[in-house]
Amino acid sequence: MSEYQLPDGPQTHPWIQTQQWLMHPLEYLEDCAQRYGDIFTLRIGPVFTPQVFVSDPQAIQQIFATDPKHLDSGEAAGIKSPLLGRQSLLALEGKSHQRQRRLLTPPLHGERMLTYGELIRSITEQQTQQWQVGEPFPVLPSMQAISFEIILKAVFGLEDGPRYQTLKDQLIAILNPKVPLVTELMFVFPGLQQDLGAWSPWGSFLRQIQQLDELIYAEIRDRKETAPSARTDILSLMITARDEQGQPMTEVELRDELITLLIAGHETTASSLAWALYWIHQRPEVHEKLRQELAGLGANPDPNAIFRASYLTAVCCEALRLYPVVMLALNRIVKSPLEILGYRLEPGTVIIPCIYLTHQREKLYPEPKQFRPERFLERQFAPYEYLPFGGGNRRCIGMAFALFEMKLVLTTVLSQWRMVVADTQLLRPVRKGALLAPAEGAQMIIKARLNSP
Ligand code: HEM
Repeated sequence: MSEYQLPDGPQTHPWIQTQQWLMHPLEYLEDCAQRYGDIFTLRIGPVFTPQVFVSDPQAIQQIFATDPKHLDSGEAAGIKSPLLGRQSLLALEGKSHQRQRRLLTPPLHGERMLTYGELIRSITEQQTQQWQVGEPFPVLPSMQAISFEIILKAVFGLEDGPRYQTLKDQLIAILNPKVPLVTELMFVFPGLQQDLGAWSPWGSFLRQIQQLDELIYAEIRDRKETAPSARTDILSLMITARDEQGQPMTEVELRDELITLLIAGHETTASSLAWALYWIHQRPEVHEKLRQELAGLGANPDPNAIFRASYLTAVCCEALRLYPVVMLALNRIVKSPLEILGYRLEPGTVIIPCIYLTHQREKLYPEPKQFRPERFLERQFAPYEYLPFGGGNRRCIGMAFALFEMKLVLTTVLSQWRMVVADTQLLRPVRKGALLAPAEGAQMIIKARLNSP
């Protein structure tokens, strides 16, 4: 008997599997789950090696609890990009990953995180200023502008001015390429990553990164010289942080982590916000309950009270459950033989906890396609049953920050605008890069402006 065995999965050519995954991710996952159950194997680009998708909660618990010596993410699991850099938390593994996480955790949590409340509120007010009563408009671009500015100001600690504007323009050029399909294909098929000069797509991408890096390094050096300990932005906190040996982060580490926080934290939060706004207005009874809860907090509620509001928390949780913007947790690579759900997997196999399918399990979430925040008030879910932020040693380091930001942005928008969904038909989820976004950016119609800030 062969020692190792892969779970079943489609026998179609890997190109077809990749195409189905890119074009119809949710339908493809649901179809595979129906045919093969809680664990199945796909072969999708860029690696085409077997990838084992898992949606059984006990197996996910096992994955999250396995020592990173035996199962970890990072560069070996295929996570690398010149934009993120090799010191990115996403690309690191083992001890260096642990060290970097320890340095990055404090600025994104607790008291320090709460100090960004006012900033988040004022950015939201500013960015929604231009909304007009009457015309349908997509809320997603506004949410993107809000979350982008929050990262640049709270994480990078930039202030309005010429460098802020140039850095912002450079980042936008990289993150929203002129021909998105070409960029996406370059990442799915690494063979296309050829630097054939400034006019070739990959060559131009690398040169854009170089220009961006010059700006970021200039910012890091300036900040080091200007009393970072007196500031509260995350870059300054990273500059003053020391590891157990008393060592600071290097400039390359600082650069790579800044970009990682931006890439990992901006579109994810923006899409989640657009979904939450959509569902709140699609379900008037949810809106009403939320309105009552927020009214009970008083005129200018303390950010901490907003963060702890229970119905608002349930609304955010349910929005992140129903269409988790990150459909899959990070790839994990098997480093020593591992048995999962009766399959013995050989080193080199990639395992992927499937967030979307786990959140659609009928037994855990009756009528899973219904938006029902009450399910989060009626029972508690284990971290391997509800995992919009992944889990184990890779659990999203920005989870608390993202939830804080979502709650403050939603509260600010709801206190100032009355709106309705533009279309009574249920909104479709669509792929936007690696994420799941609401179709057409979630079209809404403003009915009235309630309060001016
Ligand atoms: C609603 C918004 C967000 C969602 C749904 C989300 C989701 C996730 C998920 C699913 C993972 C992978 C976890 C795993 O594989 O176990 C992850 C990792 C990560 N996230 Fe988030 N995220 C969000 C916001 C943020 C924010 C705001 C930041 C930072 C400011 C951030 C930074 C990161 C980083 C650095 C990692 C890699 C962690 C590691 O490898 O150790 N995320 N996130």
